[in-house]
Amino acid sequence: MQYLFSAAALLSLASGAYAQCGGQTFTGSTTCVAGYTCTYSNAYYSQCLPSSAASGTTTAHPSSSATHSTTSTKGTATSTASGYVSTTTPAAGSGKVKYGGINIAGFDFGCDTSGDCTAANAYPPLTQYYGPDGYGQITHFVKDDNFNMFRLPVGWQFLTNNVLTGTLNSTNFAEYDTLVQDCLGLGAHCIIDIHNYARWNGEIIGEGGPANSIFASLWSSLATYYKSQPNVIFGVMNEPHDLTSVTTWAGTVQAAVTAIRNAGATSQYILLPGNDWTSAATIWSDGSGAALLNVTNPDGTKTNLIFDVHKYSDSDNSGTSATCVTDNISTAFAPLADWLRSNGRQAINSEFGGGNNAGCVSYMQSQLAYLNTNSDVYLGWTGWAAGSFAGQNYVLSMVPTNTSGVWTDTMLVAQALVPAFNA
Ligand SMILES: *[C@@H]1O[C@H](CO)[C@@H](O)[C@H](O)[C@H]1NC(C)=O
Ligand SMILES: *[C@@H]1O[C@H](CO)[C@@H](O)[C@H](O)[C@H]1NC(C)=O
Ligand SMILES: *[C@@H]1O[C@H](CO)[C@@H](O)[C@H](O)[C@H]1NC(C)=O
Ligand SMILES: *[C@@H]1O[C@H](CO)[C@@H](O)[C@H](O)[C@H]1NC(C)=O
Repeated sequence: MQYLFSAAALLSLASGAYAQCGGQTFTGSTTCVAGYTCTYSNAYYSQCLPSSAASGTTTAHPSSSATHSTTSTKGTATSTASGYVSTTTPAAGSGKVKYGGINIAGFDFGCDTSGDCTAANAYPPLTQYYGPDGYGQITHFVKDDNFNMFRLPVGWQFLTNNVLTGTLNSTNFAEYDTLVQDCLGLGAHCIIDIHNYARWNGEIIGEGGPANSIFASLWSSLATYYKSQPNVIFGVMNEPHDLTSVTTWAGTVQAAVTAIRNAGATSQYILLPGNDWTSAATIWSDGSGAALLNVTNPDGTKTNLIFDVHKYSDSDNSGTSATCVTDNISTAFAPLADWLRSNGRQAINSEFGGGNNAGCVSYMQSQLAYLNTNSDVYLGWTGWAAGSFAGQNYVLSMVPTNTSGVWTDTMLVAQALVPAFNA
């Protein structure tokens, strides 16, 4: 919505191959170039697809309830994916995502959604820094649950000790790096997540706040340090929101990608975040996806540039309520799968969660089964969240408890995440 198509230009032209051609907020041309048919996905999105495919192979997605039975015997799944008919045929995936795991939060504590972070309020999930036993948690998740990817949120202000710079504070970074090395040492993939909502103390990077070059220098510092670690994943930014322009933001993301690659981290995954809290329900329709499709590696390729999406299942997609109302397949993961597939791209769902109750278990089982079924475009997921929420009765806690050395997962992790990943 922030991305304004040039209506005058578009109205006079047919929409191009695989371009959007309809949807409630769409203002461009609803006809497609020759050989393509404007094909309805849902109320928010229609797309120009090859005419043969559009007319011939329209296929219903496998229902999540069908795949559910293989993932767990513990709950009863209710599929809410009725009504959505995919417009493209899923490519043959392996039937299971490659990466599954949990966010290990704590170094991001002290950050709010305006990118106000106070370094001293970070709460390292490491006992040597007087926090909860994040290393024990990750060890349990790897050894007992077979998880293999962890997202490690951290505030920019913590890394630089509140100085607006790309130069890392060696004391603070050493603490964060301890967690990263713990994760790498267990053979997992580890996402470096700058948890700043596209901002530094209320000001948007590249839109009046810090210059792209300062943000790029932060990523250059991090990538220089981790360039020889193939299992590090660079998560450019947590949950941008209320941006003025997604094309301007894509320029900021491009600056980070260029800095990471030019620092020598040439092969690792980089996660590209869109507007609207990286919502899986809107990246393909709010202009973010279109703008981020243009981000490239310095050699012009888009190899290992992966879309970052989040999705919560409470009534307002905020992740603040324990009650789940949806698996968001029909409103988010199905149309996103189509969009990714038609653009030849992939995504990671790096935040999702819910309360520890039967309703959320059921919705998560069906959501994760859907990601498995569409593993050609969904590489993996990390649930929100374990780490320093230990003992804080956090509504979305995925913190396992440790009783005399025996780790026990929360209900949602045990009944939805573990069975989905070990299907
Ligand atoms: C780094 O941060 C610590 C606080 O953790 C602070 O005491 C120290 O002065 C900072 N170092 C530099 C060089 O700014
Ligand atoms: C992507 O790049 C192309 C070529 O430079 C440009 O025409 C197009 O407007 C860009 N799209 C977006 C959404 O920024
Ligand atoms: C998620 O799904 C629910 C129920 O289908 C829907 O009401 C809600 O708008 C969806 N959320 C988003 C952000 O798409
Ligand atoms: C948890 O269990 C381990 C054994 O797996 C033990 O060594 C550790 O001290 C315990 N940690 C906490 C925080 O209780």
